[in-house]
Formats: sequence, C-alpha cells, structure tokens
Amino acid sequence: MKKNILKATASVLCAAAITACAPVPSNQIDAADQKVRTAIPADSIIQLTEPDKTLDVTLMQALGDRKSQREFSDSLISLEELSSLLWAANGINREDGKRTAPSAVNSQDIDIYVCTADGAYLYDASQSRLVRITTENLCPAICGQKKLDAPLFLVMVADLSRYPEGLASQREVVEKLACMDAGYVSGNICLYCAAAHLATVPRASMNKDALARALNLKDTQIPVLNNPVGYAKDQADYSHAIDAYLTQEIGSQYAKGKYCVPFYTIIGLDESNADDIKVWGDFWVFNYNHVGDTLKCVSGGSHPGLMHIRKTGSRFAVASFDPVEDGSDNVPSAKRIFGDKYDTFQTVNSDDARREKLRAKVLAQYVRKHDIQATMYQDYGWPAKKLE
Ligand SMILES: Cc1cc2nc3c(=O)[nH]c(=O)nc-3n(C[C@H](O)[C@H](O)[C@H](O)COP(=O)(O)O)c2cc1C
Repeated sequence: MKKNILKATASVLCAAAITACAPVPSNQIDAADQKVRTAIPADSIIQLTEPDKTLDVTLMQALGDRKSQREFSDSLISLEELSSLLWAANGINREDGKRTAPSAVNSQDIDIYVCTADGAYLYDASQSRLVRITTENLCPAICGQKKLDAPLFLVMVADLSRYPEGLASQREVVEKLACMDAGYVSGNICLYCAAAHLATVPRASMNKDALARALNLKDTQIPVLNNPVGYAKDQADYSHAIDAYLTQEIGSQYAKGKYCVPFYTIIGLDESNADDIKVWGDFWVFNYNHVGDTLKCVSGGSHPGLMHIRKTGSRFAVASFDPVEDGSDNVPSAKRIFGDKYDTFQTVNSDDARREKLRAKVLAQYVRKHDIQATMYQDYGWPAKKLE
C-alpha cells in the first residue's frame, strides 16, 4: 500500500545528524520543531487533492490493525494523505452532499479542524479545501500535559445549532447526540489510519476553553474529540538507514569535512513490500569543518530521489537510490520518480526558508549530541549564523 507523508511539507523531516561516516540515531525533534513538520503549504486557503480511493486494504484488515498509538515519528504527512484522511473522516460520499459519517437527524453537526504547528484550518468538505482560522499553534492546547509529537491533530467540533429547533433547545439531548456523531467521525479516522498505516488515538482530553477561544467558536459549538495523526515512531527506524546512506555514499563523494550532517524531508513512503520499502525524499547532506566556535560548510548539496530500503534481520539498509537528475533531465526525472507526489516534492524543495530552518535545527541537535564546541555555522561567502 502506498503512503504519502504529511509529516508533510516537511514531511518527515526526519532530520538526522550523523558523525562523519559513522551513523548515529536521528535526533528526536522536540515540540518546538513542529514548526517545520507539516508538508501542507501555510496558505490561508488550501485546496485539497482528490482522495485516493484505491487503498487496497480490506475492512477486516483495517479492523484487525486498528489500535491507539500515542508515539509518533518525525515523518510528516503529505497533502495527498491528509486529503484522503479528511474525506474518509467526514467527506462527501454522495451526490446529495451527505457524508462518510452518519449524523443524528442529518444535522451534519461535526466540523473538523486540522491543527498543525502552523495554525488551525477548518475542513470545508463541500469545496474540498482547508480554510485557515488562525496561525496560532493549538497543539499544546490539545495535548495539555501529554507530549504528543504528532504532526497534526484533527479536532471534532459539534455545532448544536444545526439540530432542528425543537431539539436544539434540549441541550442535554443534543450534546449526547453530538458526542455520538463525533465518535463516528473519529471512528472513521481510526479506521483510515489503520488502513493507511498511520498512527492515531481518539482523545476526549483537550483544553476546550482555550480551543473555543482560539477557534472563535460560538456558544453552540463544542470541541468533542481529537485525533493526533502521524506515523508511528518505529517507522523512524528508516532514518538510520537513510542517514547512513547519505553520509557514507553521498556525503563522502564531496570534499571531506570533519563532520557530515544529512537532513531531509520525506515526501512519501510505500511499505507494501518489506524487501523494497520506498522512501521518496528531499535529501540533503553537508560537510563541515570546525574552526574556532564555527562549523564552516565545506561541501554538500541536494539529492532528492527515491531510496529503496530493505530489512535484513532487524536492520534496515538502503539497497539502492534513484536520484533526481541534474541539468535538462531534472524536471522529467523528478516527475518520473515522484509521480503523484511531484507537487508535494516541488513545494518542499522550493521552500528555502523552511529548509534552512530545518538544517539549522538538525545542526544544532547534532552539535549538542556530539558535544561539539560550536555556537555558529557558516556557508562559504556568507555571514556566520547562530546555532539555536
Ligand atoms: C471517547 C474516547 C475518549 C478517549 N480519550 C482519550 C484521551 O483523552 N487520551 C488518551 O490517551 N486516550 C483516549 N482514548 C483512547 C482509549 O484510551 C483507548 O481507545 C483504549 O485504551 C483502548 O485501546 P485501543 O484504542 O488501542 O483499543 C479515548 C477513547 C475513546 C473512545
């Protein structure tokens, strides 16, 4: 089965740091790093893509795999994956506008808000788009004390005013119906995630008052449930293999430096064949020398493409790599390799600011992890920048 990642725009920004030719585990990205963990463009209106209805998983398989998962890897979720997820959750599945989830008295009372570190968006199913409500990061208000490092949260908000007048006045009754309706939507999310190998957990806990304020909800609107969604942490195992490959096979081709530090954004993942796990990514690697308190970049560059990963025993390793070509074959080869993920790749690859931020973060983690006495990093011909 094919999976796109929203570990999204920065889809799995499994940014990984590695010592020169000696791979070390990827650094975990802390909550603050969520800022770079979405592959959805930070626009006020985001057009969703057509849901992929070809997911070849039986209902019984999805039910067999459904479980609550609360630990997430650094992988992002692509816009394509998010589009399919939202459609499965409560998208329109009939010409009369009705949805994948039932609703009491056809009230259609449940709205889904997609919350990422970049803000919160209302899912507009009829226009197949996301409408930004705020640029505030509401993930902490959803998580509370729990540290849930998911790249996004879906929050189900019920609007009791959508019930027929006679019923809407009986607040207790409609609240119960609304909870059931939210449960159906959350159930769809759980099943889709099981089918698409995404991790999620239905949660009633969240700071409802803070969310109501930030989302500008009316008195009749109540946050009922939320589902963090991402890739399960164990999938981050691939990052070790990718780190090793980028360091040993690619970084080593460049002018040598003391430290070789790769970082990358995963655009898509297909785990359907354990002998050939496919990871599409915007891969980068740089070599640095240590001069005074500065890591000076000596070489490196961009290597987007498709990694083929194989599991041998309990270890993952990159078996081969299909790189996007340089020169005149650049666009054709990128289109060939990324296929339906090409647009996501383009969004990620052309976002210099996001990538620089990711690189700086990875480098800072690397420096901390390896106890390197450096506070700055510098590209040739550019002023030195501070490591966070
Ligand atoms: C209505 C509802 C509310 C829940 N709220 C939370 C929650 O706030 N936090 C959490 O970690 N899990 C929450 N859960 C998940 C349950 O703990 C979980 O479903 C249960 O332990 C069974 O595990 P399973 O989902 O893997 O079968 C909730 C589940 C439901 C159905």
